Amino acid sequence: MAVTSGEGDVGPGFGDARVKIDARVKIFDTTLRDGEQSPGISLNLREKVEIAEQLTRLRVDVIEAGFPIASQGETEAVQAIAKVVTGPVVAGLARCDPRDIDRAAEALAVAARPRIHTFIATSEIHMKAKLKLTPAQVLTAVKESCERARRHVDDVEFSCEDATRSDPEFLVEVFGAAARAGATTLNLPDTVGYSLPEEFAALLTYLRSEVSREVIWSVHTHDDLGLAVANAMAGISAGARQVEVAVNGIGERAGNCSLEEIVMALRTRRSASRSDTAVATKEIARTSRLVSMLTGYPVPPNKAIVGANAFAHEAGIHQHGVMMDRTTYEIMDPVDVGLEGSRIVLGKHSGRHAFVKALEDLGFSLNQEEMARAFARFKGMADRKIRITDVDLEAIVVDELSSDEDDYELVSIQVAGGTHLSPTATVRLRRGDEVIDESAIGDGMIDAACGAIQRAAGIDARLESFTVSSVTGGIDALGDVTIVLATQGGGGTHAGDRPERRATGRGVSTDVVEASARAYLSAANRLIRITTSIASSPSVPPSSP
Ligand code: KIV
Ligand code: ZN
Repeated sequence: MAVTSGEGDVGPGFGDARVKIDARVKIFDTTLRDGEQSPGISLNLREKVEIAEQLTRLRVDVIEAGFPIASQGETEAVQAIAKVVTGPVVAGLARCDPRDIDRAAEALAVAARPRIHTFIATSEIHMKAKLKLTPAQVLTAVKESCERARRHVDDVEFSCEDATRSDPEFLVEVFGAAARAGATTLNLPDTVGYSLPEEFAALLTYLRSEVSREVIWSVHTHDDLGLAVANAMAGISAGARQVEVAVNGIGERAGNCSLEEIVMALRTRRSASRSDTAVATKEIARTSRLVSMLTGYPVPPNKAIVGANAFAHEAGIHQHGVMMDRTTYEIMDPVDVGLEGSRIVLGKHSGRHAFVKALEDLGFSLNQEEMARAFARFKGMADRKIRITDVDLEAIVVDELSSDEDDYELVSIQVAGGTHLSPTATVRLRRGDEVIDESAIGDGMIDAACGAIQRAAGIDARLESFTVSSVTGGIDALGDVTIVLATQGGGGTHAGDRPERRATGRGVSTDVVEASARAYLSAANRLIRITTSIASSPSVPPSSP
């Protein structure tokens, strides 16, 4: 007999779409805002738009596109996303400050469905140490900010930062003021990932009964204690109808509630939770790959839902069970999350038309220059790899998209080495019209290639980590290399010390030396981008999220 915690949860009928649900939970995706705040991530405008388009295919309800006041680049990215996204609501983050709110409104002006998401900290420690405001001043700022945001847009979300360490009675006052001033969604963040599920549910239950049941309550959970998904689930059971998530769970520190985990928990245990989302789950694997490639954050192999081993069975007894009946050890069908295996789409003889068509089918819309670059990469790859699958195509296109006009571009690489020869590498980089050739000797060919790039790009950084995996299986698999570079910071203990900066880069190729060179260059480009954007943007005071 099946053991269930709700009717029909386990067995072939689990996740059954026919089970009646009581609640449709909105998915508010913050990959491009909170996710992008992860150390070492710095997405360019084109990459952000690509992710927003994929989130639209995934059918999330809200895309938090960025924090417009943070920099000019951030404002432009929010504007670009607001322009192309028509289905989901596009949200821009703003502190409870008139300049932030006006800037968010300006960035969202072209959005079909704009939302201003405004927030302020409400815990004693944040109000005293960070904001230097009294509770009464915070209340006034909340009221004025929500009213101001409502003058710009109809859809206003308000969050109490560090809510789970705030006085619950003060939260009632603050959320109440926000709702009366026109906020339509009230968000309860566990900013520092401190809460336990029962506490979080109790707090939301209390707030709903004391403030209002008419607004949409939302939850925003962080994973510092590994409880982000559990807390979000507890919030949903206490009446939250929006959950804030990031793809692959990326985000500040230990990250945010993972989109794929909460969506599949609700879908798989639909009859127990009586809730579901509108997410097109078959797009999950692709979304995860895209975000991982563009952010340079690899997905751990044992990560739930999207990790390489999430559906792998190692023990003989498990393999035997799965062969007899998949549901002995699989509670989800990998097909439902888009892991149905890669399709062979192209080969050596495929021409430009077939290539363009394959990219269109995958939903990529590249401009002429990007298409030319991607096609050249494809041709180079087709000489070395017999079957090119949709996953390979995705990897090369995404790898190409990461290069911006100002970035250094890898034109060519030559390496030599072996048992009797000192490993040497010569690289040619291009930056705009400038062509730079450099060579280096290293401990191995990868080390030599990275050294040559370091010289050519004039970057002073140390290699912090290096990981190689494969994109697809087989001997002609694409090597997927992730590199983390860090600048030589001053340790950060003395005023004036140069803070250490970190950037992650990924590169793919059938050749692991080339993949490593691409990954190194991508991290170097990001490091340069991070350093220049910090130098050129007006500093956002420390009350940024
Ligand atoms: O974690 C947090 O408190 C946030 C808010 C801005 C919602 O990210
Ligand atoms: Zn957050």
